[in-house]
Amino acid sequence: MTPVSVLMLLALPLGLLANYEKPMSRLNFFDIDLLRYCAEDRKGNVMVSPASIKATLAMVLEGAHGNTESEIRNALRLSPKKGEFREQLNLFLQGLKSNVSGVVIQNANSIFVSNKFTLNKDYEVQLKNVYLSEVFKVNFSRPEYSLKLINGWVANKTNGLIPSIVDASNVEPSTQILLTNALYFKGLWQHSFDATLTSSRCFYDHGECKKVAMMDLRGMLNYAYIDELRAHALELPYQGERYSMILLVPLDRDGCAPLIRDLPYKNIDQVIALLEPSDVQLSFPKFVIDYSEDMVNPLKNMRVMDLFTSSSNLSGIFESESPYISNMFHKVHMSVDEQGTEAAAATAAMVVPLIENGVTLRVDRPFVFFIRDNALGVVLFAGRIEDPTPFVVKEGDVPAPAPPAKEKPKEEPKLQTKPQAAH
Ligand SMILES: *[C@@H]1O[C@H](CO)[C@@H](O)[C@H](O)[C@H]1NC(C)=O
Ligand SMILES: *[C@@H]1O[C@H](CO)[C@@H](O)[C@H](O)[C@H]1NC(C)=O
Ligand SMILES: *[C@@H]1O[C@H](CO)[C@@H](O)[C@H](O)[C@H]1NC(C)=O
Ligand SMILES: *[C@@H]1O[C@H](CO)[C@@H](O)[C@H](O)[C@H]1NC(C)=O
Repeated sequence: MTPVSVLMLLALPLGLLANYEKPMSRLNFFDIDLLRYCAEDRKGNVMVSPASIKATLAMVLEGAHGNTESEIRNALRLSPKKGEFREQLNLFLQGLKSNVSGVVIQNANSIFVSNKFTLNKDYEVQLKNVYLSEVFKVNFSRPEYSLKLINGWVANKTNGLIPSIVDASNVEPSTQILLTNALYFKGLWQHSFDATLTSSRCFYDHGECKKVAMMDLRGMLNYAYIDELRAHALELPYQGERYSMILLVPLDRDGCAPLIRDLPYKNIDQVIALLEPSDVQLSFPKFVIDYSEDMVNPLKNMRVMDLFTSSSNLSGIFESESPYISNMFHKVHMSVDEQGTEAAAATAAMVVPLIENGVTLRVDRPFVFFIRDNALGVVLFAGRIEDPTPFVVKEGDVPAPAPPAKEKPKEEPKLQTKPQAAH
């Protein structure tokens, strides 16, 4: 562990971390479920932030009763003790407040409520104190104005990085409650990719070769082959090493769906424990994710049902009648590229002599990734990539002679499994 992450840990109440080791790993099931239900429903790139959805649902849970309450709690795998889960979720929220150089996380969670309803005063105070959040009253009979208010708020909270979250079709006079999560993540790699090596190569989606911008990196990285998942696991740290991207690359080209299905049987913490520093030759595609989804359907599939029907019980939130939640919009933006000059110095230090039992990992098929806060042991994002960025030669770019020369000896080496890792 680096001095940086040690400092991070010390800054937290240590007793708290130890206490919640168990519940935290139970909470991870929610992360996997969420990715699964979102990925099953749609093609292309998918990325969700379980941490922020948990936080938003927890805000609702604070005022939910009866069946509505137990459904949310069961989906989140939360302790029935309010004090305990408030502390757990407070940790999640802390994980989304990055102040590490080289990593930008902007997070905005909010509840917009129709001004037809009267909010419970205690509830408002609770939200402010525990979740550092506010409930906004909106006159949904004025859709244009509501749209401006909601999008303006999100843009403001993300410093303009996520300019809007809802459009005119999402806001109707009949809207009762609307939940929003907006997240932006941008990190500089600890070990940057050499942009001159990036070239057009195949990425196989449903058996078809799509030409994408494939980056190359050679270095000592934490790696393991995970037999139970039939997948390679690799850790790519971000600058400062507080945050990492954990890649899970299926052995089989069409192995991504079964991989996601099998994930509940091997949680991320167990995968991480198996990783060992290895000499890795990595080919990894550039990608951009602009994912936007109404989470109501995935959550219904996870058996959170009442909340979205007229039989919901949110009597802790409102003085009189209990409205129900119309939409839960989740929007995430992230891009992955070679990342820049700042990190280039780290690359030089990474050069290692060629050794025999290195690992060649070509991420040329749909794969799964997680972004984890290593200090808190929390998954901030979970995603699936099917559609990386196509390779484009930019104006003014000199097509470097180096990559073709490097490509030649490659003659499509198979994904090589590290023998000692596969037993
Ligand atoms: C909601 O739950 C509370 C507390 O259990 C109960 O008193 C109330 O009657 C319920 N309201 C509805 C509409 O079911
Ligand atoms: C981030 O940390 C630095 C140094 O610890 C501090 O000066 C700065 O104000 C912090 N920024 C935010 C947004 O908290
Ligand atoms: C909401 O807006 C409508 C249309 O402008 C207006 O008629 C109504 O009085 C407003 N309601 C409240 C409670 O402000
Ligand atoms: C964001 O909110 C702050 C504080 O309320 C306000 O001063 C600022 O003008 C807002 N910015 C935008 C772009 O709305």
